Amino acid sequence: MNISKLSDKSGVQVSGIDVSHDLHDDDISKIVSLLYEHGVVCIRDQQIQPEELANFGARFGSPVEHNEENLRLNGLSTVMSLSNADDRDDRQLNGGAHWHTDLIHTNEPASFTMLHAVAVPPSGGGTLFANQILAYQALPIELEEKIRERVVIHCYEGRTDGSMPEILHSLIRKHPVTGKTALYGAADTGIGIVDMEAVEAMKLYLEIGEFATQDKFVYRHQYQLNDLVIWDNAQLLHSAEVLTRANSKQEQRIMHRVSVRGWPETD
Ligand code: OGA
Ligand code: MN
Repeated sequence: MNISKLSDKSGVQVSGIDVSHDLHDDDISKIVSLLYEHGVVCIRDQQIQPEELANFGARFGSPVEHNEENLRLNGLSTVMSLSNADDRDDRQLNGGAHWHTDLIHTNEPASFTMLHAVAVPPSGGGTLFANQILAYQALPIELEEKIRERVVIHCYEGRTDGSMPEILHSLIRKHPVTGKTALYGAADTGIGIVDMEAVEAMKLYLEIGEFATQDKFVYRHQYQLNDLVIWDNAQLLHSAEVLTRANSKQEQRIMHRVSVRGWPETD
């Protein structure tokens, strides 16, 4: 395994491994350690099939199953395709183009999400990652005091009509494995803060979200064909770049995706 840094904010790239072969437990454990340490791991040059991605993903945790048939790639319950090449609507096309944490509107949000770059456009189509450990460390003390012990009320798509359950997550949280303190769910689906007046709460939530996603915390990943990018949702916010529909094969962006729950321990 050859390992080098992608930026001074987050991310390492790994080459010299082939995840289509059953990797040794030690190799998986090494990748998990890199994820905990650097937030994003990009494994280059992976020519893998969706089935192989599903198997690889399952070694990191318990894969999220997609109930809707149309989300399943090749009938695989855990592999989804993100694409600008077919006729899905604009909402689906740009569903990930805002700062968020995968499945934060559930009691057990995703730990890791991975994207395999199957088609990459010549420009654009990157993913942005905002390092929430750095953001926490840079919080001015007055802001830190305002949000210490605060718990955010999250709801699917930020809905406030009561149609989906309200889920609570602390805004400052220790990483479940490394114990490093980070901002958590600081942007996206928050609809309020426990024991705080509604307008004041949303003002504060938006202020924290802006703070947490400043350029100085952000690594932008430009995909190469066959990149396999994995990230740790407990220490990053992420956002897709806004996409336009592909008019030609060249402009296509296609990602195969697996997301998992659970926190593997490492040595
Ligand atoms: C996701 C996501 C970002 C992207 O798959 O959860 O947010 O760049 N994707 O496609
Ligand atoms: Mn996402």
